[in-house]
Amino acid sequence: MKIVHTIKEVRDIVKGWKKQGLSVGFVPTMGYLHEGHGSLVEMASKENDRVVVSIFVNPIQFGPKEDFSSYPRDLERDGKIVEAAGGDLIFNPSNEEMYLGDFSTYVDMNGITEGLCGAKRPGHFRGVCTVVTKLFNIVLPDKAYFGEKDAQQLAVIKRMVRDLDIPVEIVPCPIVRESDGLAMSSRNTYLNKEERKAALVLSRSLNSAKEALLQGERSAENIKSMISEILTEEPLARIDYVNVVDSLSLTEVVTIDKSVLIAIAVFIGKTRLIDNFIFEV
Ligand code: PAF
Repeated sequence: MKIVHTIKEVRDIVKGWKKQGLSVGFVPTMGYLHEGHGSLVEMASKENDRVVVSIFVNPIQFGPKEDFSSYPRDLERDGKIVEAAGGDLIFNPSNEEMYLGDFSTYVDMNGITEGLCGAKRPGHFRGVCTVVTKLFNIVLPDKAYFGEKDAQQLAVIKRMVRDLDIPVEIVPCPIVRESDGLAMSSRNTYLNKEERKAALVLSRSLNSAKEALLQGERSAENIKSMISEILTEEPLARIDYVNVVDSLSLTEVVTIDKSVLIAIAVFIGKTRLIDNFIFEV
């Protein structure tokens, strides 16, 4: 497993692999990897001859008051996780390598970026689409792997690849949870002991909603109220959003009569966590 920092190095290595007829899988990340990322790398390494993992905390997808500077970073630890999961190359560029001083071209999207996290984090998906397009152009992967925890991001990337005819297959990977149900996230590391316990309210509220749906509840409003009530009972939790949307278009639904995404974002103390599940009628 090799770590490189420049675009030229990645291009040269990938070119060599392609000359040999090897397929390339790609896992874009912001580092501080956990088992969720490990599962993406494992899946990529099962399905491809070589796997590239990018580790880049992308400044342009963070808002001015968000956690760009405090986002956890540990390249040495990440290297071990990538290697153990079967990755072959880490691309860890500097901000200057990715964004030249007069950088001025962005990839943006209407519609599905406007609700959920997009509504709460203006400019976030413009930053994600721009960096992912750049990374795809640098790595030229056959397949790219994204976690379902960032459900809106996954939908946005799929749409971008379709709309811009980017020749890559997007592979969704299931949410990986801690044994007590908390969805794995690099941001879980911000939680103190009390907050870590309080964070279980996210999966608990979603599990109750799932139960109600299985018992036949079909009103999106009732599902949202049920989740909100449970979240509100936790004193350390502050709801950012609770929503029930069509799982493809991400538009709000009133009656649950097709595949829906039930998605929540909740602050536990100062840490913003997201979780979701898809319910197929
Ligand atoms: O999901 C993430 O970690 C990031 O949004 C991504 C896709 C690596 C782009 O910076």
